Amino acid sequence: MRACTVLPAALLLVTAAYAATRYVVFGPWSIGHIPLYVLNKAFAWTGIVLLALALGLGPAARLWPALGVHLWRRRWWGLAGFALATIHIVVSLAILNYGYYRLMFRQAFEFTALAECAMLAGVLAWLALLAPVAASLPGVQAAMSVRYWQALQRVGLLALALAGLHLAYGVPGWLAPALWHGGMPPITLWSAGAVLIALGLRLLTVLTTNRRRP
Ligand code: HEM
Repeated sequence: MRACTVLPAALLLVTAAYAATRYVVFGPWSIGHIPLYVLNKAFAWTGIVLLALALGLGPAARLWPALGVHLWRRRWWGLAGFALATIHIVVSLAILNYGYYRLMFRQAFEFTALAECAMLAGVLAWLALLAPVAASLPGVQAAMSVRYWQALQRVGLLALALAGLHLAYGVPGWLAPALWHGGMPPITLWSAGAVLIALGLRLLTVLTTNRRRP
């Protein structure tokens, strides 16, 4: 149990410290916004990194077999990532308004088109995550064939890709380093990097496995 909680706890600590430094120390937000606005960033960022780890470790272990001893952790990292993504959604919905997320709104009460697409991708990502999460439950796993179980796990990759699209609302900020608080890159950019690495590893193993086949 301890082995599964150490990494999520450490990630939460690091991401919370990064978010507080970026938004409160260098940014315009006050300490009073740490409990929801700032911590929500740590929940979302840690969640997406854990999901990327859970889905990227399998392909990584095929390329570097020494990582195989850690494969059992994937399930716990995936479940922890899902739990944090769910907390992130509840917190986001509580404060999703013009005051907190001005860049997402064309005017008060009206999203930009990019923000609408990003939110839709987030909703679909969460729905898609339900497939691997349900398949990970011990009783459910025992009741289904390995093939069906693997298919449900693959829906997790679709979920990760959708979570990546959900970050699209941050792209304009990626292109303006002069505006980064304290010169610290946006959390959407770090998160997109984690998604791309996990999906890239998966693609690499598919390509190398197919090439090895006669
Ligand atoms: C109903 C579904 C969802 C809603 C309504 C939602 C809402 C939001 C909002 C409002 C933001 C902007 C946060 C900010 O700039 O402070 C955001 C960012 C983010 N979301 Fe979601 N989200 C959803 C699903 C997901 C899922 C499934 C994930 C996967 C873990 C996720 C991961 C992230 C990440 C990593 C960020 C970037 C955080 C940042 O830059 O501060 N979201 N989401």
